[in-house]
Amino acid sequence: MNLQNDLQNKVAIITGASGGIGEAVAKDLDAAGMSLVLTARSQDKLEHLASNLQNAKAVPGEITDPELPQKLVDFAIETFGRLDVVFNNAGIMTVGSIETVDIEAICQMVRINVESPYRIAYTALRHFKQSGSGFLINTSSIAGLKTTPQFAAYCGTKFAIEAFTDSLRIELAGTGIRVASIAPGSVDTGLYNHWGQDQKDFIASGGLLQPQDIARCVRFILEQPAHVLIPRLLAVPAAQPV
Ligand SMILES: NC(=O)c1ccc[n+]([C@@H]2O[C@H](COP(=O)([O-])OP(=O)(O)OC[C@H]3O[C@@H](n4cnc5c(N)ncnc54)[C@H](OP(=O)(O)O)[C@@H]3O)[C@@H](O)[C@H]2O)c1
Repeated sequence: MNLQNDLQNKVAIITGASGGIGEAVAKDLDAAGMSLVLTARSQDKLEHLASNLQNAKAVPGEITDPELPQKLVDFAIETFGRLDVVFNNAGIMTVGSIETVDIEAICQMVRINVESPYRIAYTALRHFKQSGSGFLINTSSIAGLKTTPQFAAYCGTKFAIEAFTDSLRIELAGTGIRVASIAPGSVDTGLYNHWGQDQKDFIASGGLLQPQDIARCVRFILEQPAHVLIPRLLAVPAAQPV
């Protein structure tokens, strides 16, 4: 008996698909035979990625746009006839000391990292409840499990994602709908592009994961048979003493 959940011909929405973890997950799910709806702001990057995948479409958008979640779900159904997976992944990181942190930038991060994934999740889950199945994976972080000085607001956004994911998981137990989080440690992506070299060196001090490492974890969660749920998968660089 093959217990593995077959992803072939299933359909996923991936947010934050223009780079980093989202792009790597798109490549892995494409290799698994899934059709994909890719979203982020960078239209060129999305279209370039889609053109290199078997069956993927780009839907560029600003993740804080309240109309984007329904647009993505409708697009998936109209284009591919179904929706099975949502990888709720777009995010940014703004950190700093109490004295230096830009409060407006922090509040924008809360909109991107918390409000927007909530909107995506509830919109997708309403569709999943109608169809009786579906898989939502939210990108959290080790910062959703442990705090660090100067990361207070970012940690807050990821603790929120962990709590949100866990409560939804319990609410949906037994419905055929599964909800999980992926909690990466430091990954070599564009998340740190706006940082100074000292800060980058701090993040990389214990080594960095590659986006493909997280993509492998996401695929592992999705490929579990229907009676198995991995509620959270935490993956950190093996040499990082976190
Ligand atoms: N890298 C790490 O060490 C690490 C660790 C733990 C968790 N994470 C989480 O992993 C997720 C993905 O981040 P990443 O590391 O892959 O970083 P990344 O390479 O910077 O990717 C972030 C993605 O989010 C999209 N995005 C950002 N702001 C957006 C907006 N306003 N509207 C629409 N899309 C937006 C970006 O696309 P556009 O710029 O094209 O819009 C990009 O596709 C985030 O939730 C992050 O918090 C990362």
